[in-house]
Amino acid sequence: MSQTSQTVIRREDYQVPRWLVDQVELQFDLDPQDTQVQARLHMRANPDFPTHVGSGAAGADDLTLNAQAMRLVDLRLDDEPLGADDYRFADDLLVLAPGRERFVLTAQVQIDPASNSTLNGLYQSNGNYFTQCEAEGFRRICPYPDRPDVMARFRVRIRADRAACPVLLSNGNLVDQGDCPDKPGWHYADWEDPFPKPCYLFALVAGRLVCAERTIRSGQAQGQATDKLLQVWVEPGNEDKTDHAMQSLVKAIEWDEARYGLPLDLDRFMIVAVSDFNMGAMENKGLNIFNTKYVFATPRIATDIDFGGVESVVGHEYFHNWTGNRVTCRDWFQLTLKEGLTVFRDQQFSADMRAAQASDDAEAASARSVKRIEDVRLLRVAQFPEDAGPMAHAIRPDSYSEINNFYTVTIYEKGAEVIRMLHTLVGEAGFRKGIDLYFARHDGQAVTCDDFLAAIADANGRDFGQFARWYSQAGTPVLGVQGHHDAANRRYELVLSQHCPPAPSQPASAPFHIPVAVGLLDGRGVALPLRLVGENRAPAGDTRVLELTAEQQRFVFEDIDEPPVPSLLRGFSAPVVLDYPYEDHELAFLARHDTDPFSRWEAMQRLAVGAVLAVMAGADAAHRSRPLAEALREAISDDTLDAAYRALLFTLPAEGYIAEQVAQIDPVALRAARHAVRLQVADALEQPLRDLLGRLRDSGPYRPDTVSAGRRALRNLALAALVEAGQPDAWALADVQVRDADNMTDRSAALAALVNSAAPQREAALAFFAEEFAREPLVLDKWFSLQASMHRQAGEPPVLDRVRTLCARPEFSLRNPNRARSVIFAFCNGNLAEFHAADGSGYAFWLEQIRAIDPINPQRAARLARAMDRWRKFDPDRQQRMQAALREVAQTEGLSRDVGEIIAKALAH
Ligand code: TRP
Ligand code: ZN
Repeated sequence: MSQTSQTVIRREDYQVPRWLVDQVELQFDLDPQDTQVQARLHMRANPDFPTHVGSGAAGADDLTLNAQAMRLVDLRLDDEPLGADDYRFADDLLVLAPGRERFVLTAQVQIDPASNSTLNGLYQSNGNYFTQCEAEGFRRICPYPDRPDVMARFRVRIRADRAACPVLLSNGNLVDQGDCPDKPGWHYADWEDPFPKPCYLFALVAGRLVCAERTIRSGQAQGQATDKLLQVWVEPGNEDKTDHAMQSLVKAIEWDEARYGLPLDLDRFMIVAVSDFNMGAMENKGLNIFNTKYVFATPRIATDIDFGGVESVVGHEYFHNWTGNRVTCRDWFQLTLKEGLTVFRDQQFSADMRAAQASDDAEAASARSVKRIEDVRLLRVAQFPEDAGPMAHAIRPDSYSEINNFYTVTIYEKGAEVIRMLHTLVGEAGFRKGIDLYFARHDGQAVTCDDFLAAIADANGRDFGQFARWYSQAGTPVLGVQGHHDAANRRYELVLSQHCPPAPSQPASAPFHIPVAVGLLDGRGVALPLRLVGENRAPAGDTRVLELTAEQQRFVFEDIDEPPVPSLLRGFSAPVVLDYPYEDHELAFLARHDTDPFSRWEAMQRLAVGAVLAVMAGADAAHRSRPLAEALREAISDDTLDAAYRALLFTLPAEGYIAEQVAQIDPVALRAARHAVRLQVADALEQPLRDLLGRLRDSGPYRPDTVSAGRRALRNLALAALVEAGQPDAWALADVQVRDADNMTDRSAALAALVNSAAPQREAALAFFAEEFAREPLVLDKWFSLQASMHRQAGEPPVLDRVRTLCARPEFSLRNPNRARSVIFAFCNGNLAEFHAADGSGYAFWLEQIRAIDPINPQRAARLARAMDRWRKFDPDRQQRMQAALREVAQTEGLSRDVGEIIAKALAH
């Protein structure tokens, strides 16, 4: 490794804090290069600190504060100035010996928000001030015990030039404001947050901003209705883009109250949109800060998917108010305690919002399954590879070097799957009982995943000792299933087994507790009763959950006359890989008849994966695509199925998903094979696709509801298939759609189709789009990203050439994460065949970009570094080139700890 030493933090080393903070008073004098922060920390010895640890050992009673990227101006203990001999300030730590049980520590520091390109701590974006403190950004604002189990009451005074910063916001309630007598032209605002919180939930926003606001009455369910002020703050000029975010917030508040009995506990709740932001959004108490991507939504600039994204992220951050803020994490190893649970809650919320728009039960079930399929798709395309690569970790990891590297799909999405399994095992009512007990026990505390599991178990009289392995073991278990029909006894036996491939630092794992939802279908697609041997009668319903706890277990069903087709892992009841030797005709049967919409979709996916893999292995594409094409022919024209669901059936599995099914990835052959299957399907289904194109055209103006969105999705898939297949009239239609559609969904879908085709209209359409949306950064991101991830036509120059041209444009910037992502990440993570060009040019580009981004924003550079995670899965020549690039990064002078950890793990793998 380079000079960056990888200090490893271990979960087992946790110790309760020696010192607690009861109250914090902060004062900010805002200035771009010279912001003065004064922090008064009211501290006391922690009575729960084990005395045997402290007694006598040198330094055990020291006060150690985190302090990074700041200049210390003044330090006082109980208002007595401290001299240079009274403290140590080195290696980002400020250490002193208080020598008393209770004291006030006052620190004055100087920080430089204008030069802070990391987007952690206090920084500027377009001249306005923002903070980002999770996970460890507060230590860049003032000296503090920066750990989530130190919870304090915050009182904040913000002072700034009134002209530069007319708006001054922080957490909680606005208690005072006025002019600063000592500074002409300056004003101040005082904010008080009544709830003790960890410092990662602190936020400050200041600058020229405008807001949309709305007052709602809430708390009825708790019998104490009060008025709440809701605000969405944006830069001037974007006032017209906040409606959907505001509506989503109102829905989220109502939903949490109705579904979980959890009210909004503040009189004021604010959302602020910022265009420079590392992630999606942040749940700061009462002052959520959002990437503009998850706030701005109008038909002109946002797609149906964007509208859904805003709703789900607004929900997610709001739901953190209880799951994350009122009950927080004891330490960062417990991150999934808040993230897994909150993702599960936002998934439920989105599913409920979709279902609420349905006109009957069947439509509602279909709407829910659409959301479920989208979630599973993300899990399998992103989390399964993570769990099989060098960064594999349990949802509650045992160690890390840089916590920012652990905001992963494993912590979030697999974490949500683990919560979902608990929900499946105890049922809806049991889950609610468990959540109620969790809050009864832990409101106001910083707790662990074990505390959560204990609440769910205790409320339901269950033992989840074995289930807890989902928290401690990494890797994706493989669920083996075999079925045997015993005609003489009219029985059907399912043998379930499990094994989990080894992960780094986890050679073997013990059996998991896996809920396996199954159904059985007879030859006509009718659901069979599910009576197990020893039971008097079959339970109601056509699905039942089998609990697999051993390495192998047998389940025997009675009254089964003929060999059934098993429908397995319905609803994706566990985050596992299902290994069952389905024949194509069985898959085609399930794709037609399965009564579980998830499993029906899954059967279609399996048919498609089979076809692509066979073509890659040399099979004839026309012949091998036929079963899939025939199954799709029926499905896409079946108007009894909701259009959004049909669109999912018609979407081929992503390259990244198929890549995980093979021993060695050949990205170029994979793209060619998948493309060949797409073309065969498009050819075979030309007529039904043309019919869809005509029948699904919307007559009226754009409406964002899920039914219209589903119709657009299906229609645009049909259009893309015909465009890709080289139909000139489809090219012309797509071109018109780019120029004339009244909404971004149709425009960007048509443009994407053209970009991935041989249409002569392509470049002109791109130019039109760039000009039309030159002043809409989020739309320009789409324009960049479509090109960086394009599939090129035979004979065209490598996409990397285009990417380099894009990087040279004046609108491009490495400092803005959305923009950098739209080109560099879209290419390195989203364009498998081009990034892995055989000559290694993609890897050279990657190396260059890591080196350029790391000094600006290590957190983002580390995300890019992960594009090489699966290097061991490629052919020897590519492996060798990737390894060489990884080694070069490792030798980079001044490499961040963030990138260092990712590279070290990749190389060690
Ligand atoms: N806690 C945030 C969420 O899940 C995400 C988050 C963590 C974040 N660290 C961040 C956001 C850093 C921005 C920057 O909602
Ligand atoms: Zn979150």
